[in-house]
Amino acid sequence: MGTPARPPSSRLCRLLLPGGILLLLLLYLASSHLRTPRSACIWGSQPCRWPGDPAPDEGERGQLPSRSGPGQTLGLLPLQTTHPPCPQSPQFRIQCMQSAFAASITPGGEVLLGEYLRGWKELAKFIDSLGTAFGLVSRETWQKITIMQDYLSGQRGAHYRTLQSMMTFELAKGLVGFHSLPATSPPSGCRTLLRLHRALRWLQLFLHKLGTSEGVHPAQLCASAYQEALAPYHSWWVRQASALAFVAMPSRQELYGILCEPKEQRACATLLATVQAIGLVYNRTQEVYSAHEMLGLP
Ligand SMILES: *[C@@H]1O[C@H](CO)[C@@H](O)[C@H](O)[C@H]1NC(C)=O
Repeated sequence: MGTPARPPSSRLCRLLLPGGILLLLLLYLASSHLRTPRSACIWGSQPCRWPGDPAPDEGERGQLPSRSGPGQTLGLLPLQTTHPPCPQSPQFRIQCMQSAFAASITPGGEVLLGEYLRGWKELAKFIDSLGTAFGLVSRETWQKITIMQDYLSGQRGAHYRTLQSMMTFELAKGLVGFHSLPATSPPSGCRTLLRLHRALRWLQLFLHKLGTSEGVHPAQLCASAYQEALAPYHSWWVRQASALAFVAMPSRQELYGILCEPKEQRACATLLATVQAIGLVYNRTQEVYSAHEMLGLP
């Protein structure tokens, strides 16, 4: 208590720099090793789809509930109904993310996976725009999204319309994998979605902090959100790699540029509305997982 507190970012650097360069090298090697050709996706029977790729014939557009679906009647966030339909675009749009997450929850409390994934695709674009240091996080995210999208547009897609129907289906078929799965079987939808769900909490906290605490560097906000939401689930190596990525985080002004809101005040308003939309679907998902005692799926 006697010495003035060192700013966390410099503490972070002091802790991390010795191993940092080695880790970056390892990460780089790992990432160039992991890069798979699009046509040889290891996660599903279909080729991976990446941002910007056109959807396959009976792809997501056909499967998704329409934008005027039940979630829209929730009426909590005026932005969601006034925003024009979101085109498929490689660029992150916070309004598209907000409207997708807001529409992903029905008045009856069902979580529509199509909309949820649409929100996540925007969120993944946001992660992409945070720079190359987030490459590993980005790849993980897109992999999980692709697995879920494949379930959703696959033969048994009807069972994957909502979180609740997915759970019922996978439980009935013994697909959930309450213990560790054999390496050959694909990860279950419940398990994959739980990873996205935990990461959603991290990004929700981060965006909330970004919208409510002025003058703190985003790197610190992102790191503390991570500590709170994700670090408990990650191995030491992943925690160090993540900490490194946060050090390379863009500045607040750059982030506002990414969020397409040149003026800080509007950026904060949009952020907080988005955080609220995410919070609703996060809470509901948490309840459903908790009710099925699935929050600890390996
Ligand atoms: C989510 O749940 C938490 C804790 O129960 C609560 O404090 C928060 O207000 C909820 N968020 C929303 C958006 O409903």
